[in-house]
Amino acid sequence: MKTRHLVDAAGSPHLVYISVVGAERTPVVSGLDRAMFGYVAAKRASEEIITGSGLPWTTLRATQFHELTLTTARAMARMPVLPAPSGFRIQPIAAAEVADRLAELALAEPAGLVAEMGGPRTYDMKDVLRGYLKATGRRRPILPVRLPGKAAAAFRAGANLAPGHAVGHRTWEDFLAAATAAD
Ligand SMILES: NC(=O)c1ccc[n+]([C@@H]2O[C@H](COP(=O)([O-])OP(=O)(O)OC[C@H]3O[C@@H](n4cnc5c(N)ncnc54)[C@H](OP(=O)(O)O)[C@@H]3O)[C@@H](O)[C@H]2O)c1
Repeated sequence: MKTRHLVDAAGSPHLVYISVVGAERTPVVSGLDRAMFGYVAAKRASEEIITGSGLPWTTLRATQFHELTLTTARAMARMPVLPAPSGFRIQPIAAAEVADRLAELALAEPAGLVAEMGGPRTYDMKDVLRGYLKATGRRRPILPVRLPGKAAAAFRAGANLAPGHAVGHRTWEDFLAAATAAD
């Protein structure tokens, strides 16, 4: 019976993986692509490892977290001039909302690739930076920079966005106001 208890307690494995929107449609082919978008390629490679594992799995792709967006804006605002990748848009979402969904998925049956999650609104990258500067009372020029390569072109075409899955509730503006109150 101890063996039965052991097997029951172990349950059946369920790999739940968090990936990024656009992982499958951002071509990371050249060294230049890899230098700038290696993270996206790594997420795609991880997705394939999960899929090929032979274990029951669920993968959720989410857009950029508010938290990462803020970290990026803070880091860039330390520079005298903020380079903004021209044509890049983001659709940030609260990490907590994605975490709630992951918990729900982990408790459910393995479901393979599930519907992706995007934030409630889409923003031009330069507007995100401008909003951060305004919220923290800073004045800096923003310099649009056109990034080369196929992966950057895919982002300009919106590969990192999930307009049909704008399911997040907390807006970037709301998050930013709360997060920068003490900045
Ligand atoms: N950030 C985004 O915009 C975004 C969007 C879509 C998907 N995702 C995915 O969501 C996940 C979390 O992203 P994030 O931005 O929140 O990352 P993060 O800030 O780097 O946090 C990663 C967390 O994982 C923990 N961790 C890393 N390696 C670990 C290990 N070997 N064992 C146990 N814990 C480990 C880290 O712990 P320590 O703090 O102790 O190092 C940290 O708490 C990643 O898989 C990311 O690719 C992120």
